[in-house]
Amino acid sequence: MCGIFGYLGPRQASTILLDGLRRLEYRGYDSTGIAVKNGAIGIHKKVGKVADLMTVLPSEISGNVGIAHTRWATHGGVTDANAHPHESANGKVVIVHNGIIENARMLRTSLSVQGVELQSETDSEVLAHIIERELSVDNHPENAVRRTLHQIRGTWGICVLFLEHDSIVCARNGSPLIIGQGENEMFVSSDPHALTPHTQRVVFLEDGEIATLTAHSMSLSTLKGKNFAANITVLEQEWGDSELGDYPHFMIKEIYEQADALRHCISGRLDRVDGNGRLGGLKLEPRKLSSVPHVRLLGCGTAYNAAEIGQILIEGLARIPAVAHIASEFRHNDPVINPNALHFAITQSGETADTLSAVKEIQLKGGSVYGVVNVVGSSIARECGKGVYIHSGPEQAVASTKAFSNMVAALTMFALQIGRSRSISREKGKEIIKELQQVPHLIEEYLEHQGPISEAVELIKEAKSVLFLGRGISAPVAKEGALKLMEIAYIPCLAYPAGEMKHGPIALLEEGSPVVFIAPNDHVKTKTISAIHECRARGAKIILIHEQGDDIAVEGDVSIPVPRVHSLLSPLLTVIPTQLIAYHTALALDCNVDRPRNLAKSVTVE
Ligand code: G6P
Repeated sequence: MCGIFGYLGPRQASTILLDGLRRLEYRGYDSTGIAVKNGAIGIHKKVGKVADLMTVLPSEISGNVGIAHTRWATHGGVTDANAHPHESANGKVVIVHNGIIENARMLRTSLSVQGVELQSETDSEVLAHIIERELSVDNHPENAVRRTLHQIRGTWGICVLFLEHDSIVCARNGSPLIIGQGENEMFVSSDPHALTPHTQRVVFLEDGEIATLTAHSMSLSTLKGKNFAANITVLEQEWGDSELGDYPHFMIKEIYEQADALRHCISGRLDRVDGNGRLGGLKLEPRKLSSVPHVRLLGCGTAYNAAEIGQILIEGLARIPAVAHIASEFRHNDPVINPNALHFAITQSGETADTLSAVKEIQLKGGSVYGVVNVVGSSIARECGKGVYIHSGPEQAVASTKAFSNMVAALTMFALQIGRSRSISREKGKEIIKELQQVPHLIEEYLEHQGPISEAVELIKEAKSVLFLGRGISAPVAKEGALKLMEIAYIPCLAYPAGEMKHGPIALLEEGSPVVFIAPNDHVKTKTISAIHECRARGAKIILIHEQGDDIAVEGDVSIPVPRVHSLLSPLLTVIPTQLIAYHTALALDCNVDRPRNLAKSVTVE
């Protein structure tokens, strides 16, 4: 989604800004732009990728201060005029903005009445014009931004460039902004990954804060005008490899990274002697765990599918009610919050606005929320203050793969920990740990022998729609497989618990309809076989993901075996063929695998 990068220092700003934009690309966007100050402020913007912007840039752009943006359209279509940066009427104020200005319509009307000719259809442009007006009051950039923000309702991460001042003013409310401090240079970005090639020393702006940056200094204050000292965080130098290497796409690279990512996630977090999970970041003692009345898990997209698996694991191992909720719905349903219950916010990016709002709603009602987050220092991780980092390393393909697996692994460890504090024996705990530690190796084993994925792709790639079915813990895996294929190959996909198939989706089946079944060797397998027969009787072609060596293989037109593992851990293996099917189908249909249309990696608007 929208991304911001800014620079002040001795180097040519344009080179650094363009590199920053490339590092923001994975988040998903539809247009880009940069503004560099050198006497005048030169603005260049273009619909499309950073590579498209390059085609309209002059061969040399001098200047040591600038701001840049990747836009994901919310207000106004995908046009060059709507791309950021936006300038004020006199060209002396230039802004980039992430977030949504809720009172933009009223502000646009009032500016028009005052004779301002708006150049775009965006909500963001009003910021430039109002700051210009406020600047004329006292020619003080920070005060002008502060007074402007008092007139705005909504969310923002903004950076403002001034023709007549050497500083950049930035501010945050609901859209992340991180300042990076280099040697005699200063950076600002909406994404910490874009900063780490330059510096590890960062300041995370909080909501309601403003910063004035020069190449040598940063001064921080609140919207109310109270100054405070910078709290510098040192980011981990090596968060993982974010380059493609020899892989053609990030998605396949990340599918292959799952085994190692899982090793990182579980390392040091399993107590083999006591058969227990050891998630220190939760700061939850056994006494507290043993009295928890229920657990709620929140997430969007893939994270919600992981939450549904977590629900089954927690209920199964701890014998307390656990419920997964779609985070984007949660806040609006005025949920009843029990302060003794545990809530988990599950999110790869840690920036999903819907999930963040749900976290705030729970906190407002006195509940505690624990993060299950990939991106260290992200908004949700900091808002929760406690939780589990899933340690997947950078995930750049929009379609999540290794983060999904690690969310499931983190929730498995939590289920084990709460289970041990309540109902399950040391022996059972040890058994699960032993098997979980085997999973990275089993993933590698599977990736070496992937089975007939290409045959599955042949059945799927021309289909009008694809049905994904599974029961029990495989029902969310079916959902995740359907989401993946729909996201990147644009094939309408339906996912249902297999038992529900006969109550609706069966109407879709006709000769040759592909149906993907997730059917590990667990207690619901025989029921799943009945559903397979019901589909086959209507002419469907069955793509069956099953446990290696299981007789069920004969039920599939295309049968894809995965290594055997404890049934509670089966999603960590059964999901991988679904990822490969989505990836290879998207390739066969010539789709942009890593950056599917309209989607964003990090959705920072509600
Ligand atoms: C977007 C992405 C999905 C992702 C969801 C939640 O919609 O396209 O792939 O699952 O956001 O993201 P999160 O960062 O909160 O896990």
